[in-house]
Amino acid sequence: MKIDVWFSSANITPPDMQGRTVVVIDVLRATTSIVAALANGAKAVVPAGSTEEALRIAQNLERDDVVLAGERKSQRIPGFALGNSPHEFAPDVVHGKTVVLTTTNGTPALQATHGAKEVLVAAAVNFGMVVQRCRAVLAETGELVLLCAGREKQFALEDAFAAGRLTKVLLPEGGLRRVEVNDAGIAALELARHYGERWLRAFRASRHGRDLMDLGFREDLKMAAVEDTHPILAVYADRKVTGHRAPAAV
Ligand code: MLT
Repeated sequence: MKIDVWFSSANITPPDMQGRTVVVIDVLRATTSIVAALANGAKAVVPAGSTEEALRIAQNLERDDVVLAGERKSQRIPGFALGNSPHEFAPDVVHGKTVVLTTTNGTPALQATHGAKEVLVAAAVNFGMVVQRCRAVLAETGELVLLCAGREKQFALEDAFAAGRLTKVLLPEGGLRRVEVNDAGIAALELARHYGERWLRAFRASRHGRDLMDLGFREDLKMAAVEDTHPILAVYADRKVTGHRAPAAV
């Protein structure tokens, strides 16, 4: 059994993803917002790599069916309906709509999974569903990739902690003797050992978390830190993320 953790998508090439199940993590805030949107009734979330790409995708969809969302430097993109705060993806805004989302790190990380067999979108808010699907994948295929979006192509504490927490929960009895975990995974496990289940403490310690608090997004951290608020599995396939109440059969 093998779990590989990547701390950013910067050096990933398609062969790294080829045929594998990849779990994408950007807890502050893209993957949390994607899960919130789907849990609140969005038909799909379509990740875009740039503002221009988001506008292009939106133009090809029925105007009334689309919600444009995204951030740069954590602030809403001018002209877009929503930014990237999970609470903005409320039922009255997203229900029945396709959300086209572009963010600095999260949506590029999703796009970097090209070639993967299956891509899951993970956050604390859907942690239990992700764990359930990952256990099944490990039993079926014996391997898993946890891809942290990171920040500006660098390590981000909050995503690494999330990867560690997931790895820790997935370790079978016998722990590291029974699973091959790469060094990034070992470091992530150390973070999980340090913070335990205290997501908010890890978020508040992180550079990105502190920047978000300075910008007035303190509530976003609190929302993103609660496990299992939205028990759905979010799956990225055919360039869109869709939500499944029960684990998707692949
Ligand atoms: C990202 O994708 O870089 C983030 O979700 C940034 C943020 O909005 O906090």
